[in-house]
Amino acid sequence: MGRLPRNACPKFPVLQAERRAGVPSRLNVVLAPLQGCGYPPWHRTWQSVLLTRETRWPAFGTRLVDRLGVLSWESDHVVNSERPIVEVRALHTDELPAAIRLLARGFRDEPLQVASLGPDPERRHQRLLVLFGAMFEVMNGQTPLVALAGGTVVGVTGVAPPGTCQPTVAQLLKYVPALVPMGLPSLVHTARLNRSWGQVDPKEHHSHLGPLAVDAAMRGRGIGSQILGHYCRQLDDTSLMGYLETDSEDKVRLYERFGFEVVREQQVIGVRNWFMVRQS
Ligand SMILES: CC(C)(COP(=O)(O)OP(=O)(O)OC[C@H]1O[C@@H](n2cnc3c(N)ncnc32)[C@H](O)[C@@H]1OP(=O)(O)O)[C@@H](O)C(=O)NCCC(=O)NCCS
Repeated sequence: MGRLPRNACPKFPVLQAERRAGVPSRLNVVLAPLQGCGYPPWHRTWQSVLLTRETRWPAFGTRLVDRLGVLSWESDHVVNSERPIVEVRALHTDELPAAIRLLARGFRDEPLQVASLGPDPERRHQRLLVLFGAMFEVMNGQTPLVALAGGTVVGVTGVAPPGTCQPTVAQLLKYVPALVPMGLPSLVHTARLNRSWGQVDPKEHHSHLGPLAVDAAMRGRGIGSQILGHYCRQLDDTSLMGYLETDSEDKVRLYERFGFEVVREQQVIGVRNWFMVRQS
């Protein structure tokens, strides 16, 4: 499996397209040979494209994109053989411990967590278990989504419905003591991070996405995109604005494919952060 830069050659003629069962936001597309694009002239090339901006494409009877984002290519004729079949749905209460463990593993080495929770990976992991455990217990208005492959939780995202993303005084009174096991420096950094994010939280009615993570071994196979696709369909169905914070340009590009736009950039605890909105 190789990778092409996204939109390397935006004018590929599409020869054939099929909608993947259960995944309306992703298509398998057969594209014409890539001569003239600086890539070898394969006879046929299978591509997977991700929908960025929805539009009507009546020939396929479904809502498709008008801007192709090339995710991957293979020179044989097997489409997406490495893409696991996942189910994305609301988290069941008994899956919460697995979801918290996944988030703690998933965020351990991300820039904001390194800055806020210290240089030792194992300590960061332990602190994240405390942080996410407390977060889901206290912020109980959350409606998280999970991705399951063969019954195992492989991806998860928190979703805070309108009016629930900033803690109430009563929630803060529970949240802060629950974070004490993280240690004072981590607690202070986490409080600064949350305060900085809270200060720029949109005043408009919005749904707040995150924390989102996919198990490290399963990344780059479209699971994050499937979770985002499910989330964006929920936003569309309820005509809600989506909002998130993120800490790397790779992730900004991923969210842009789903219609999020950067509305602010700011250093938070020494790390560059992007604040993104998806208009309703
Ligand atoms: C961000 C994340 C959820 C994406 O999940 P995923 O299943 O790998 O996503 P997909 O396979 O659908 O898409 C991969 C795209 O995400 C981007 N991406 C961002 N961070 C990535 C990472 N750590 N590993 C792989 N891809 C990553 C890649 O650029 C890739 O784009 P490309 O196809 O143009 O190369 C996952 O990488 C993750 O859990 N990261 C750690 C936790 C995190 O940072 N969460 C987001 C906080 S805002």
